[in-house]
Amino acid sequence: MLTLAALVILPLSDASATSPGFQSASVCVQCHPAIHKAWAASEHATAFTSAEFQIPYDRIRQDNPSRALTCEQCHNPMRFLLAKGDPRADIFSQEGIGCDFCHSVESVNSTGPWPRYRAIPGIKFGPQGGNPANKAHVTQFSRLHITSEFCAGCHEFRNEYGVPILTTVSEWEQSFYRGEQVHCQYCHLPQLFDARFIDQKKQKGPVDHGMVGGHSPGRLAHAIPLKATLAYSGDEAHLSITLKNETVGHKTPSGLPMHKIRLISTIYDARGNAMSRREELFERLIGDGAGRPLEKPEQVFLEGREVLKDNRIGPKETRVINQRFPLAGVVPASALIKLTYERPVVDNPPETRIIEMPISELTVPAKAESAKIRFLLVALIAIALIGAIIALKNRD
Ligand code: HEC
Ligand code: HEC
Ligand code: HEC
Ligand code: HEC
Ligand code: HEC
Repeated sequence: MLTLAALVILPLSDASATSPGFQSASVCVQCHPAIHKAWAASEHATAFTSAEFQIPYDRIRQDNPSRALTCEQCHNPMRFLLAKGDPRADIFSQEGIGCDFCHSVESVNSTGPWPRYRAIPGIKFGPQGGNPANKAHVTQFSRLHITSEFCAGCHEFRNEYGVPILTTVSEWEQSFYRGEQVHCQYCHLPQLFDARFIDQKKQKGPVDHGMVGGHSPGRLAHAIPLKATLAYSGDEAHLSITLKNETVGHKTPSGLPMHKIRLISTIYDARGNAMSRREELFERLIGDGAGRPLEKPEQVFLEGREVLKDNRIGPKETRVINQRFPLAGVVPASALIKLTYERPVVDNPPETRIIEMPISELTVPAKAESAKIRFLLVALIAIALIGAIIALKNRD
């Protein structure tokens, strides 16, 4: 196996995408420690090594090794670009989506055939345009790195049947954020660098390479604020819930079709006993072509033939959900509304379980929609109408 020192001095002259002289993240850490720390804890760093990925990937490899390459394009891109049998494959596999992959990218054809990314190892493409005092490596300003297009090569994907599997980028493209030039980086690589001012080359401090999404409680906390009212009259209670996708630059949930948002509403009586409970799921389901939803990631990516359902909440969209509950003589006192985000995790391989993360929660008191008030309202409207008709008649 090659030592790290050997890696650093690999020839950098060949610009073709197939024989790159990538460098390991253990080189970058010497001078970019803060960025390295955030990246090492990110989903990108473990995109290949995580159990969530390795288990389905293994199932594919056992079935048909050449198909497993599809997965490596995005989950292990440096190894994907190395020549077959290259001894550095192990190092780069440990690093998943490593520093030098992203920073060697010169261009991307996000809808084209693989390899979608053209890499020129040896040049560090970045948002600043290089610092003349920097003798550590060659740097070059890249506009691509501050736009959503950069992320699109991996975060947008249709399989060989043309079924859209990952659609985060097109969801963003259809939103007002695109018009406002609020790119992915603005929310996912934040730090005093405003992607809307693309020519602004000065910035302070490193950008946050944690690139957190739905896996982060902090990210979810303000994402979808809730409002609700609970009214009852006679034998029915009416719960009206308003959800707003406030801070998510694409649909929510997004990314992998297994991500779900669950809305749970429970009505309580004055003693705190639960009277009724409803659940609603916001999700995108991929089917097998015969109406059956696919559950496993490798099936979704490779076998998905149809989109069965998509009721996710769009960027800045407000969704009103009306729920009616029959009442059997008991008066409701309050409603508790909970919104949670769900995703599969593997914590005891190969067992997969679903973890739930809170997004928002709200309790509202019940209000009687009294029959008297309703009668008065109807009477008032009737009087107003009759008045209007008389006034019209008198005009003739
Ligand atoms: C010997 C120190 C050193 C090492 C090792 C190093 N860098 Fe740098 N890098 C720098 C310095 C200095 C700058 C300029 C910093 C500045 O402008 O504030 C820089 C800037 C950058 C930039 C910004 C480019 C721009 O102008 O927009 C990128 C991207 C980058 N480095 C990536 C990497 C990657 C990836 C690695 C590992 C493969 C790496 N660096 C290793 C010292 C180093
Ligand atoms: C206006 C801010 C904003 C912009 C712009 C934005 N995102 Fe997000 N993104 C979020 C928030 C907030 C979450 C967490 C809530 C969620 O997962 O729905 C998130 C979640 C994600 C997730 C995880 C999805 C899930 O449901 O687990 C991915 C992947 C992602 N973003 C990628 C991107 C990409 C790629 C772009 C650019 C095309 C982008 N984001 C643009 C705010 C943004
Ligand atoms: C998934 C792709 C990706 C990975 C992996 C990645 N970067 Fe970046 N990096 C970017 C993008 C995109 C920007 C530009 C963000 C912006 O300014 O809008 C950036 C910005 C930078 C900058 C310049 C801005 C600053 O904060 O100084 C440096 C230096 C840098 N990255 C180094 C690294 C190092 C070192 C690693 C690994 C530890 C790394 N990057 C991993 C995509 C990546
Ligand atoms: C080489 C492919 C690749 C590129 C380029 C890339 N990503 Fe990712 N990204 C992935 C993969 C694969 C994962 C999932 C890793 C995992 O969960 O193990 C991921 C995960 C994420 C997540 C975490 C999602 C979650 O559920 O919490 C966010 C956020 C994200 N990426 C944003 C970005 C942004 C923003 C960019 C562009 C600056 C970008 N990515 C560029 C492949 C890529
Ligand atoms: C076009 C790029 C691309 C391809 C090809 C791809 N993935 Fe992914 N994969 C992603 C991105 C991006 C995410 C992160 C989505 C998110 O979290 O929102 C992801 C997430 C995942 C996850 C969830 C990981 C976690 O930590 O929760 C699994 C599992 C997965 N992919 C398996 C596969 C398998 C198996 C294949 C091959 C059949 C494959 N992927 C092919 C881009 C890709």
